[in-house]
Amino acid sequence: MRVAIIGGGYVGLVTGACLADLGHNIEIVEIDKKKVDAINSGTPYLFEEGLEALLHNHAGKDLMASSSYDAVAGADISMICVGTPPDASGQADLTFVREASKSIGKALRDATGNPCVVVKSTVPPGTTDGLVRDTVLAESRGGDILFGMNPEFLREGRAIHDFFHPDRIVIGGSEPELFERVANLYRKIDAPVIRTRPAEAELIKYVSNAFLATKISFSNEIGNICKKMGVDVYKVMEGVGLDKRVGREFLNAGVGFGGSCFPKDVMALIRFAERLGEDPTVLKSVMQVNDTQPRRIISLLEERIGTVHGKRIAILGLAFKDNTDDIRDSRAIPVIQMLLERGAAVSAYDPLAMPSMKKIFPMIHYGESPESVLMNADACLVMTEWPEFSRLDHEFDLMNQRVIIEGRRILTTSATEGICW
Ligand code: UDX
Repeated sequence: MRVAIIGGGYVGLVTGACLADLGHNIEIVEIDKKKVDAINSGTPYLFEEGLEALLHNHAGKDLMASSSYDAVAGADISMICVGTPPDASGQADLTFVREASKSIGKALRDATGNPCVVVKSTVPPGTTDGLVRDTVLAESRGGDILFGMNPEFLREGRAIHDFFHPDRIVIGGSEPELFERVANLYRKIDAPVIRTRPAEAELIKYVSNAFLATKISFSNEIGNICKKMGVDVYKVMEGVGLDKRVGREFLNAGVGFGGSCFPKDVMALIRFAERLGEDPTVLKSVMQVNDTQPRRIISLLEERIGTVHGKRIAILGLAFKDNTDDIRDSRAIPVIQMLLERGAAVSAYDPLAMPSMKKIFPMIHYGESPESVLMNADACLVMTEWPEFSRLDHEFDLMNQRVIIEGRRILTTSATEGICW
């Protein structure tokens, strides 16, 4: 099938490359010329395992990019993959969705057949059948256009794997032809397909992320209790997670969740509920626990070494999780901020994320290796679960004193403690 993907960001680029690998013809519509050139030359501009190989195999052939919407008119599906960042109140900002819908509508004025517009961006329930449909039809001056919603459940760093191994494919729509056409995109993938109304598909995305975030904050709250009791929350969650109704994943207590999705989507769902006149107390507490975990690791550090003023604190890990260079809402950000406010000298290392963190904290020291930041440090905080950190052992002997606190459970060396263990 011919698919026009609007937006060459993380979701659009990964989706386009994977759909090309499934045998479809993809044109990514991207306003950033540098990204257009990078896609057409097969050069990835974001870190995703397997993306380089996909671009190498398909770029310039069945995966192209341009800044024009020309591909929309001849596409079997036009897929909106633009960002929906939070506005000041935490609501989803739909500016890019509106712009994309306008441009798609204009491009469909002369279209033949019955074009199909599908929203993949994470949008508040009601957006596909409301803003998108109304804007496209206003610009296209009517027409027999199908509208649908097909959320993604991709994890950063494992997005290619997740695309080809989804737990389910969700299609929101109303016309049989819409369901058939979108299902056809994924016909080579073995996964249950559920058909819903657009608003249900939009909500499935938000609720999936909100529930995973809830599991994390729940584990952190139990972890904080276990810390006071002197028992290991990981042992507790191992036993709890063996219950098939619970499941062990996303029960890892630590310094909280970051990333471009969980914080944004939970807040957007809270604001959406409030607009309906609901008071989402559980969702608000998920965010409240997440906001307090960074403060907890700082308090624990001060319990161990007293004031951090004038002391050298080593931070191992800056990315919001391992296997990515993304620092959006990383829990390392509030931790570094609090250390600087308290007059500590911060020295940080991360395998991938240092260039990004330098844009936020240019004034701290960045080391080329864990050893270089551990040298003469008065304490060490582990903030990202990078597998390479599990191999560190004698390197900690370089510290002035061996005070090591994990925000993520990753070390195997002795004499460490964790925020919740
Ligand atoms: C998430 C969802 O997993 C994915 O399905 C959705 O499409 C996008 O949002 P992502 O944000 O890439 O994916 O990362 P994820 O692997 O889910 O981790 C999110 C955060 O939660 C990270 O900061 C991670 O360190 C933290 N986390 C994860 C925990 O603190 N405990 C856990 O048990 C799991």
